[in-house]
Amino acid sequence: MLRHLQPAYDRWRLRRLLASGIPSYLKLPFDYLATPGLQLPSEVQSKRKLVEHQRTAMLDSPLKQVSIYYSPKPESSGTHATATLRPEHGEVMEFDIARIASHTSISTYWGTFLHLLASSAASKNILELGTCAGISGCYLSSVPTCQNFWTIEASEGLSNIARKNLAAISDKATVFNGLFDDVLDDLLPELGEKKLDFVWIDGHHERVATIHYFQRLIPHLSKGAIVLFDDVSWSADMRQSWEELAHWPGFEYTFDLKTLKGLGIWSGGETVPRFDFVAKPFGKIHLGDPQGWKTNASNQHR
Ligand SMILES: C[S@@+](CC[C@H](N)C(=O)[O-])C[C@H]1O[C@@H](n2cnc3c(N)ncnc32)[C@H](O)[C@@H]1O
Repeated sequence: MLRHLQPAYDRWRLRRLLASGIPSYLKLPFDYLATPGLQLPSEVQSKRKLVEHQRTAMLDSPLKQVSIYYSPKPESSGTHATATLRPEHGEVMEFDIARIASHTSISTYWGTFLHLLASSAASKNILELGTCAGISGCYLSSVPTCQNFWTIEASEGLSNIARKNLAAISDKATVFNGLFDDVLDDLLPELGEKKLDFVWIDGHHERVATIHYFQRLIPHLSKGAIVLFDDVSWSADMRQSWEELAHWPGFEYTFDLKTLKGLGIWSGGETVPRFDFVAKPFGKIHLGDPQGWKTNASNQHR
């Protein structure tokens, strides 16, 4: 099929998907993915402007480099994920702030999607694993219904940058500086009766680790919770984790979003998920080839 037919094809598939009974709050965010140039509500446009201002302002920082925890190689923590595993974090590298702003942080396109998704779902309690400079956090914590936005980052330098960016956008955000598991040890018991409505897993991109963090969070998910996994085609190993997560019992629906992000809607129990693609590219799925595993040179961005 010709490439220029893709948007029309995507919209046709989406209409069929929406008519098939998926939650109605998915309509706007999915429409956004399937319709290039879709006119967005003015309040979304103004939030986006504020967040993008923070992204640009980072470039004026006197700090030029910052440490980041690069995702480890496949099977660095074995082959079997459990909720009790403590997966090893990856190598600590130095990245330029400019690269953090333009490549490592979420793009404007996907940040807008996160905002639309959490707004449409009226998410209240949102958890992010992998803060980086707080750009995706700005998109999420600025959702009108957000009551708590918790985010975890191992790099102290990035946590400080993120605190500044988030404070300019929202008073609901808390940045925890530490490894995911160490912070979750304290945070999860403190949630008490509060359940997580939206979980965004965007760090430690390794199959066993990704499944482990998800397993740890399952008891804290609300019915109908959104669980979004980033970079599901970043490597063959991450694609494998998504193949498993997309069919995980307890998800009611799972969606492969342009083969880049994996979305699950949690129901609990033994529900078998209905799986679908949203805006699937034609042809083969292109898997990433992480440069940081090949060399110790700093500033590899994949
Ligand atoms: C892709 S970046 C996150 C980007 C950010 N969510 C955004 O979209 O703007 C992943 C982040 O996770 C952090 N990270 C990786 N492994 C971690 C771990 N085990 N514990 C805590 N932070 C970790 C990295 O330092 C990095 O800043």
